[in-house]
Amino acid sequence: MADNNAKLHVGSGDHAFNVLDGSIGPSVVNISSLYKDTGMFTYDPGFTSTASCESKITYIDGDEGTLLYRGYPIEQLADHGDFLETCYLLLYGELPTKAQKDDFVNRVTYHTMIHEQMNRFFAGFRRDAHPMAIMCGTVGALSAFYHDSTDITDPHQRMVASLRMIAKMPTIAAMAYKYHVGQPFVYPRNNLDYSSNFLHMCFAVPCEEYKVNPVLARAMDRIFILHADHEQNASTSTVRLAGSSGANPFACIAAGIACLWGPAHGGANEAALSMLAEIGSVDQIPEYVARAKDKNDPFRLMGFGHRVYKNYDPRAKIMQKTCHEVLGELGIKDDPLLDIAMELEKIALNDEYFIEKKLYPNIDFYSGITLRALGFPTNMFTVLFALARTVGWIAQWKEMVEDPSQRIGRPRQLYTGATRRDYTPIDQRR
Ligand code: SDX
Repeated sequence: MADNNAKLHVGSGDHAFNVLDGSIGPSVVNISSLYKDTGMFTYDPGFTSTASCESKITYIDGDEGTLLYRGYPIEQLADHGDFLETCYLLLYGELPTKAQKDDFVNRVTYHTMIHEQMNRFFAGFRRDAHPMAIMCGTVGALSAFYHDSTDITDPHQRMVASLRMIAKMPTIAAMAYKYHVGQPFVYPRNNLDYSSNFLHMCFAVPCEEYKVNPVLARAMDRIFILHADHEQNASTSTVRLAGSSGANPFACIAAGIACLWGPAHGGANEAALSMLAEIGSVDQIPEYVARAKDKNDPFRLMGFGHRVYKNYDPRAKIMQKTCHEVLGELGIKDDPLLDIAMELEKIALNDEYFIEKKLYPNIDFYSGITLRALGFPTNMFTVLFALARTVGWIAQWKEMVEDPSQRIGRPRQLYTGATRRDYTPIDQRR
């Protein structure tokens, strides 16, 4: 148990701040009175040493390479559970009983359709619009259709909004894909499980029956589990900050989608596959590894490195196993990009630069190869990440909204701009 306060000598004297201990993981120094006590701010661009909130949802041990959803190891949930059970766990904190799970699955199933008027939204986009641009637009627009679940002070409306988001994201994601490839939208089917329904909405066509491959549906479901939540990452922090102003949940999730799109975050799966394609062959790997190490070259190995994991991302290991399962089921004997990925991983993990900086493959390194094998174009990869992460965003948003101590997030700054000066009339400016 840490000493219950930290002492700081700054400015005019000594100040003591409470140290708070979590159930596991690093303790925190509560500095909320620092500015009042010292007239100074902390300074931590990128929040490398800052805990923005207290949470009970997800725990990551970056040194050990551990990921727990409500205390359950990701490996066990991926092996024994399914995505909707994981959604229930993240939202309510406990694994559901059979009756609770059946009820939850039923409620999600009957919210999968979107308002028919929303179909016209898609018609406004160019066919070659990036599906993430479509997701940002249509998810934000949900608040224009579902007014009866935007009052965040009403627990019932919060629950309805949460279910609607989890249920409708696959439908919107599949519609973004169908619109992009110029095929008709496929409606959800209530007789299919969550991931089978998603694959059916993406790959069925009106001209013939489409039978979902159960092995691929299981792989899709496991990929959703791996992406479901990840404590206070950039997009989750975006959702929390947007929600702290009282914005409705649909608008907050749209903000999270926008943040996830960046190549340093959820866009890395798309960027990692493009990188493997650019490398092109195993013998080109040394050149790209050298570029990744060159300070003067902005090139980075996409799918490598992580702010928190300084060990192997446990999700990457499960993703690699899933990748082999999917390729095996599809009879893809040798995927040149997988060969490059595995050789690149081997070289990088034995290279002094990556060892010293503790750069390991993250979840995005193998996901692209797997998603491409499942039939998705590269520009749909981050859409699938957003689909899965919606439950994490909603669970974290709900935890924040239900926290009686939460206030609007409003960071301060270190100002280094011009000091006060008077306006100069234009004819006197040089
Ligand atoms: C996700 O936060 C989450 O939890 C995110 C996520 C989730 O589930 O929500 O896990 C999902 O976003 C995974 C990460 C996907 N991004 C990528 O794969 C893009 C490539 N990786 C990097 O851009 C980078 O590693 C980050 C963005 C992931 C982490 O950046 P940090 O923590 O700010 O680390 P950094 O940029 O300060 O790098 C530390 C050092 C630097 O060298 P020095 O300045 O110390 O000399 O490591 C180097 C970097 O140059 N480095 C890399 C590298 N990543 C970091 N060098 C080469 N290739 C890389 N990929």
